[in-house]
Amino acid sequence: MDLVKEIEKLKKEKNAVILAHFYVRPEIQDIADFVGDSLALSQQAAKTNAKIIVFAGVHFMAETAKILSPDKKVLLPDLNAGCSLADSAPAKEFKEFVDKYPNHTVISYVNTTAEIKALSDIICTSSNAKEIVESLPENEKIIFGPDKNLGNYVNSVTGRNMVIWQGQCHVHDEFSLDGILKLKSQHPYAKIIAHPECKKPILLVSDFIGSTAALLKYSYEDVANEYIVVTESGILHKMKQKSPNKTFYVAPLGNINCACSDCNFMKLNTLEKIYNCLLTEMPEINVDKNLSDKASISIKRMLEISENLGL
Ligand code: 13P
Ligand code: SF4
Repeated sequence: MDLVKEIEKLKKEKNAVILAHFYVRPEIQDIADFVGDSLALSQQAAKTNAKIIVFAGVHFMAETAKILSPDKKVLLPDLNAGCSLADSAPAKEFKEFVDKYPNHTVISYVNTTAEIKALSDIICTSSNAKEIVESLPENEKIIFGPDKNLGNYVNSVTGRNMVIWQGQCHVHDEFSLDGILKLKSQHPYAKIIAHPECKKPILLVSDFIGSTAALLKYSYEDVANEYIVVTESGILHKMKQKSPNKTFYVAPLGNINCACSDCNFMKLNTLEKIYNCLLTEMPEINVDKNLSDKASISIKRMLEISENLGL
């Protein structure tokens, strides 16, 4: 069976759209209707006219899509596609943390569960975190969660002093500075480009820091020919497509002696699972109405601020 043809057929029959994150397998990015970073994907989910959204990404992304489009059917090809960063902020503990800091505005990264979004005032992604924080008055007291590296980075570029929840992503937090510097010594002309979910020592040696969409844009607009890419390896597919004459090196992870900075959750998405979920319309993501209504306030606030800023 030609999976790609069958997926196309089912998509048309069922008025479905496939949204894919830059971290999923290349063959999925190539058949998706839209490939983007977390911000662009939530914007697409909010405006699509399709009846069914197949989310080739991870659970919090599909959940966000469902909250933004409650009347649409949202499918996640593999329910085990979670996120270690979202898992690093359990709702009960996060609520206790928030309660310790009264009169603080809570800004949460989109990589969170609906429960955390419902406890938050504004959501952000790595594409707009700096701007969302800067949209608040300078003296505003802010709690930022769950990513400590992104929170510290935003504090450093905005001069704010946000209280930060100590969560992290198991891929970005594990990149090895020694490994990156070794790679740089082998390729001295390569620029180091990193995602702000990486640790501070890595960001300090980076030539450019940005979300996946920003890293991609930089890679094709910049004049260099070689890049050491410090984020999940899936982004290299689009980088190579956009700049076929440039060379991209995958940054190594800490304890593992390989060049495979893969997010095992993102890689659970396969063409076969996309075909099966389109065929059976399962597994479907549903969010309790009360929870969804609460969580939608902070997500919509992010979308409004982003739109006003032209992001
Ligand atoms: P962005 O899509 O905002 O770059 O975030 C990367 C990420 O880790 C998504 O899980
Ligand atoms: Fe979550 Fe990290 Fe995977 Fe992104 S790369 S989905 S933050 S575990």
